[in-house]
Amino acid sequence: MILLQLFLLSIGLVINASTPNSCSNCGDFVVPYPLSTNENCGDKRYKIYCNDEELEFLSATGTYYKILRIDPSANKLVIRPPLILKNTCYSSDLLMGGLLLDESLPFNISTHNTVLLFNCTSNILQSPLNCTSNSICRQFEKNVEEGSGCMNTLCCHYLKDSAMNSHKIRVRIGSCTSYTCLVGFTPDDPLETWNYGIELQWLSPN
Ligand SMILES: *[C@@H]1O[C@H](CO)[C@@H](O)[C@H](O)[C@H]1NC(C)=O
Ligand SMILES: *[C@@H]1O[C@H](CO)[C@@H](O)[C@H](O)[C@H]1NC(C)=O
Ligand SMILES: *[C@@H]1O[C@H](CO)[C@@H](O)[C@H](O)[C@H]1NC(C)=O
Repeated sequence: MILLQLFLLSIGLVINASTPNSCSNCGDFVVPYPLSTNENCGDKRYKIYCNDEELEFLSATGTYYKILRIDPSANKLVIRPPLILKNTCYSSDLLMGGLLLDESLPFNISTHNTVLLFNCTSNILQSPLNCTSNSICRQFEKNVEEGSGCMNTLCCHYLKDSAMNSHKIRVRIGSCTSYTCLVGFTPDDPLETWNYGIELQWLSPN
């Protein structure tokens, strides 16, 4: 009997050692290590927030973005793009300059995001964006209710690859005033299959 208890105890120790101190669920969300919803669990550098049973990511400008999914095996999470305010072509984070990540934290924007920019001024044409009448941003304006306020503005799309700053998606008055983003988009994907989100990646803790 004692031997059995010792045996079970040692198994428990092994299991404990191999699963670091991960946080308890947030609503239905599993919070994998190293993500941390409070100072007693996870790794503090990987802070996220559990508000009303929903997980949120905090940007460098103090804006919360809802976390849609987490893929712990790939060190990735997907946040919801900001809404475009009704009857305007303004992203809800426009006054904050768009999405800005704190460069001292171990998160960046992955290379699987296709960004759609709206209501741009013509100086944006100098950068390597697709602002043609075939750009997928036109489909969003025409077919998605949220994009209707951006109809007939200059819009563009681009793959946010490694040549781009991986800590921000910038919008501002006088440049582009709103954006949305698709994860894993490949040309010719029909609108019904678009996967809205902004995929972030985190550096492994060790
Ligand atoms: C712009 O994007 C559309 C849709 O993906 C594509 O068909 C077209 O070839 C692109 N044009 C340029 C100049 O990259
Ligand atoms: C587009 O942006 C300009 C400023 O750059 C702003 O004055 C205008 O109201 C915006 N248009 C819409 C439809 O929001
Ligand atoms: C983002 O971070 C990951 C993990 O640290 C790294 O492998 C990747 O190169 C970074 N991506 C960019 C575009 O900087």
